[in-house]
Amino acid sequence: MIDMRMDRRCALITGASKGIGYAAAVNFIKAGGDVAIVARRPDVLEEARASIAEEGKGKVIGIAGDVSKADDCARIFAEAEKALGRIDILVNNAGTHQNGPFEAATDDIWQADFDLKLFAAIRLSRAALPGMKERRWGRIINTLNSGAKWQRFGSAPTSVTRAAGMALTKVIANEGAPHNVLCNAVLVGLIQTDQWVRGYAKEQAEGKIKRSFDDYLAEMASRIPMNRVGTAEEFANMILFLASDAGSYVTGTAINVDGGMCPVV
Ligand SMILES: NC(=O)c1ccc[n+]([C@@H]2O[C@H](COP(=O)([O-])OP(=O)(O)OC[C@H]3O[C@@H](n4cnc5c(N)ncnc54)[C@H](OP(=O)(O)O)[C@@H]3O)[C@@H](O)[C@H]2O)c1
Repeated sequence: MIDMRMDRRCALITGASKGIGYAAAVNFIKAGGDVAIVARRPDVLEEARASIAEEGKGKVIGIAGDVSKADDCARIFAEAEKALGRIDILVNNAGTHQNGPFEAATDDIWQADFDLKLFAAIRLSRAALPGMKERRWGRIINTLNSGAKWQRFGSAPTSVTRAAGMALTKVIANEGAPHNVLCNAVLVGLIQTDQWVRGYAKEQAEGKIKRSFDDYLAEMASRIPMNRVGTAEEFANMILFLASDAGSYVTGTAINVDGGMCPVV
């Protein structure tokens, strides 16, 4: 029988007041773990914390902070470790949509993308590794997107940042493996979350789209072999698997959870 229980495991998940991070936190709590969730807006975070706590008996704490800032990363990790006792599982998930033509991406845009999606994972992983190695059990899971393997037209800077995230995953996996600390990446294709609701509202305000939200989703789905977009829960199930004892021999890999969308395996 596959064992995906999280009893006595403590997880820190960034970007977890909404979407994929929220669904991952619900999975951990339902599986019997304790969880610290991170996001910037305290009110939205508290609402999420309360609703995740209703899903199980474990401890759920909310830590407000911006993971694109070095000081916040240090504080977030220290607060999570103090509240939960230790961090066994780190899910580097916070991120946002940042796609465009290469020539339109200024230094500031590049730097912000690196700070949010790459440096946050570097800083939090560096904080988490010593304890994980000492206890000889740890999991670091990086949410990336299919741009890490498949750099499409107009995908700067995110596809570059995500490719670096994939290399980071391998580097940490190599050094963690002798200590039973596993590190993997999970690659998003198109998962329906608030990120899309915001994207739709922005394009509509700019007059770029006139169709309904359902038609917008249907157009997205038409690019996916399974002909539908994914749910945050479907994506979070892979995170739970990798975090659990069921995933005990999987490290240093980048798994597409995208309904077959990415042409690169
Ligand atoms: N959904 C997709 O189709 C898709 C596609 C490609 C990549 N992804 C990636 O998948 C991950 C999860 O995306 P999602 O769709 O679940 O996003 P979402 O629904 O927009 O949720 C993003 C979460 O991250 C938090 N967050 C954003 N910036 C943060 C920061 N600087 N510091 C701390 N928390 C921050 C948000 O809360 P606050 O705003 O309050 O901070 C929220 O809790 C992201 O890395 C995203 O780039 C998703």
